[in-house]
This record gives sequence, C-alpha cells and structure tokens, in this order.
Amino acid sequence: MTNSYHEATKHTYLSVRSGARQLEWSKMPKTFKIYPNSFAVKRLELDNKIDRFIYLIGGITAKKVYPGVEYYLRTVPSAGALYPVEIYFQARDVEGFKNGIYHFSPAENAVRLLHEIIDEEGVEFHLKDKRMIKGFLFLFSSVYFRSSWKYSSRAFRYALLDTGHVLGALEASCYLYEHAFFILYDFDKKILNEKFGFKDREFFLSGAKVGIPQKREAKFFKLNLPFVEPTETFEKNELIQESYIESLRLKNCKKEYRFPKFNFHKERFFETILNRRSIREFSKSPIKSEEFEYIYQTMIEPIPSDCDEKVKIYYIVNKVSGMKQGLYKNKELLKEGDFSQIARYLCLEQALGGDSAVTFFLTSNAKNYQSLYQKAGLIGQRCYLSSEYIQIGCSGIGAYYDDEVKNFLHSDDMVLYALSIGNNKERL
Ligand SMILES: Cc1cc2nc3c(=O)[nH]c(=O)nc-3n(C[C@H](O)[C@H](O)[C@H](O)COP(=O)(O)O)c2cc1C
Repeated sequence: MTNSYHEATKHTYLSVRSGARQLEWSKMPKTFKIYPNSFAVKRLELDNKIDRFIYLIGGITAKKVYPGVEYYLRTVPSAGALYPVEIYFQARDVEGFKNGIYHFSPAENAVRLLHEIIDEEGVEFHLKDKRMIKGFLFLFSSVYFRSSWKYSSRAFRYALLDTGHVLGALEASCYLYEHAFFILYDFDKKILNEKFGFKDREFFLSGAKVGIPQKREAKFFKLNLPFVEPTETFEKNELIQESYIESLRLKNCKKEYRFPKFNFHKERFFETILNRRSIREFSKSPIKSEEFEYIYQTMIEPIPSDCDEKVKIYYIVNKVSGMKQGLYKNKELLKEGDFSQIARYLCLEQALGGDSAVTFFLTSNAKNYQSLYQKAGLIGQRCYLSSEYIQIGCSGIGAYYDDEVKNFLHSDDMVLYALSIGNNKERL
C-alpha cells in the first residue's frame, strides 16, 4: 500500500510545471516545539560530555538571516531547513539526569523533563524487548506539517529522510563518545503517540537504545502528556496521515547486529559535526578517487537496527580523477559516458546534480517503507559527515524526476534520495 504513497508523490516534468503552488507565508509553521515552564528545564552545558552527546544529535550550529526570516541551522541538514523532527529520550541511571522522559529543545539549548519515572516504570514497556535500559532510550518523532507546508504530500518522504539524518547524527555522537547504539523501528508507536499527547500533529518514526539492557523488564506506567502546539499553524494532510498508519506495521524484519567501523580522528570529527553545511555551488574541479572511496566506504558500513532493509546505491561519476565517467553500482561501471547534463536534469534541473563530482541515487524495492526510507536518510548523514571530514562539499537532493531516474538506472526500485558531492567553490 505504501508504495502507492510513493507513486502518488512522484515528481514528473508535468507535475513540477502544472501544479506550482504558491507558498503561504502567513501559514509558515514554527520550527521549534517548546514545552511550557511547568516542565523543569535543564540547560545543556557544552563542556559536559553527556550534554554534548545530546546536543550533537540536533543542536543549533549556525544562524542565517534573510529579509524577514531567520534560519537556525543545526547539526543535521533538513529539506527546506524546516526541521520536522523532534527528539525525546528516557534517561535511566544517567549521571546528572533524574530518571525520566525528556524533550530536547534546540531553541533553548536545553532539555525539559516531561515525566519522572519511578523504579521499574519505563518506555521499554512499549518495545518488543521490554528489558530496562540503563542509559538512554531515544524516540524520534516528526511534525509533518513543517514540511508539508512547503512540499505538500511529498513531505512524508522528507519527514523520513530528515529523521534518518537525525539517526545518523546520533550514530556520529555515539562514535565520538564511544557508546554502542541500536536503532528501533519496530515498537508500539501508536500507543506512544497517544501517551505523548501528539494528537494528529506529530508521530513517532523511530528510536534508539544507547545503553545496557538489564535483567528485569520495565513495567507499565501512566503518562498523559498534554498536547503542546508544535507549529502554531496547521493543515491536515490526509494522504500523509493515512500513509503513516499504513506503514506502521512492519513485516518480516531482519535484524542487523553488525556495527559500523569508522576511523575518524575524534577531535577533527567533532569539529566536522559542528561545521557541517550543505554545499550551494560546486567548483567543478575533480575530486580524487581515494576521496570518493573514503566517502563511499562510510556509506556502505552496516547499520545496527531491528529492521534492516536493503538500500542500493547507484552513482553517476562526473569528475573523479582516475575513474571513468559513467553510471555505477557497487563499484561496477554499468554505463560509460558523460552523464552530467542528464544528472542535472534528473535532479529537477538543479545545478548541484550535474556540477558535482559524483551524484548518488539511493533506491529500494523492500517493503518496510518507514525503515528503508530512514535508512536512506542515515546513509545521507554519513555521506555529509565523511565528505565534510575531508573538506568535500555535499548536499542532499530530495527533488528529482522519479520515473526518469528509474529509467536511467534501468531499475524498478523506488528512488528514495539523491546526494551530490564535490569540491566546494567557496573553499578553493
Ligand atoms: C532530505 C533533504 C533533501 C534536500 N533537498 C535539497 C534539494 O533538493 N536541493 C538543495 O539545494 N538542497 C537540498 N537539501 C539541503 C537543505 O536545503 C539544507 O540541509 C538546509 O537548507 C539546511 O542547511 P544546512 O544543511 O547547510 O545546515 C536537502 C536536505 C535534506 C536533508
């Protein structure tokens, strides 16, 4: 059924030209959800390791001011800088944190305690494995209107990709502070949506365990959080709400326990996370084949999760010294040639697609839409961070002509995401 959502939200040459919607600026949603002061606030102190660990998952790293609008940019990229993802976590026996459920509030650079848990109470009760986690248990939700305001029904894709990027940011922060993590897609999201008082504005998409399972299982606990307005404005999108519900039930999930191996220098990697930005213009000079290899290798490392779906990575090499131009998959050259103009066209005529050194297309024909799409976002975050680490520019590209990409790749898969990498004009 969800593939019908994917079908219904394709960009085509005609759809892009005929249905042009004007953005209603008066309805622009807020990008920060702020819980009222009745919930205790705890500022994040960035010289404290645990606070920094949380901050790096989605904190503010830059501010841009344009006439009439201010954008606060974060450790993660986001389609249209609209940041639909909200971050919650449970802390159990973590130094400096009362045992309880928290909301991370990037606007305040703080966390707010939403509910204290006592003894064996805990969110674990709603997971498949109910054993208590000593440490953190993260939950990631999406406030879809932030994206659908701009992208209409296609926004569910962006909500999933953006959440995948946050999962990737969590992975990066875990790498820095040497925490093991395990991503969760398969849990009772519906009940938790109710307990967190989301109404129809927000829904959980994934979670992650960052801690050690205990012997005892968590017990049921009462939680009736009040509804807190996350956007100020709202327009319901039926297709997104239905597609969310339809894609909730995961089937035949395969677990992945293998852990990724990265070899980043910790201090430099920390700077990388803080400095990460999307490239706006490529210099069109070639990158080295070792640089490409380095980025590609981080993208294909395993991702531990309870529902690992296969995501394939195709790539068009435009300008990599020592590599033939053409379309590749798994390091195999499928079609040789200069496809830079085609790549630009496929990415909705965005120069980023054609001026890049390499443009990736992530695809899948798997069934569990929520997991496979978030995995594509996580791979995207790895692409960003490993590129930034070696001073190469990167941008996610959510806008492409779906069917034409499929035809070009000779694949029936759903096209989930495009990304391009290359030398940064400003840096040269
Ligand atoms: C899922 C996704 C899709 C995106 N699509 C595009 C795109 O089609 N074109 C583009 O120029 N930038 C795109 N971006 C980049 C965003 O515009 C950028 O992340 C945002 O403006 C925040 O800036 P920053 O990444 O520099 O922090 C995309 C980012 C994400 C995460």
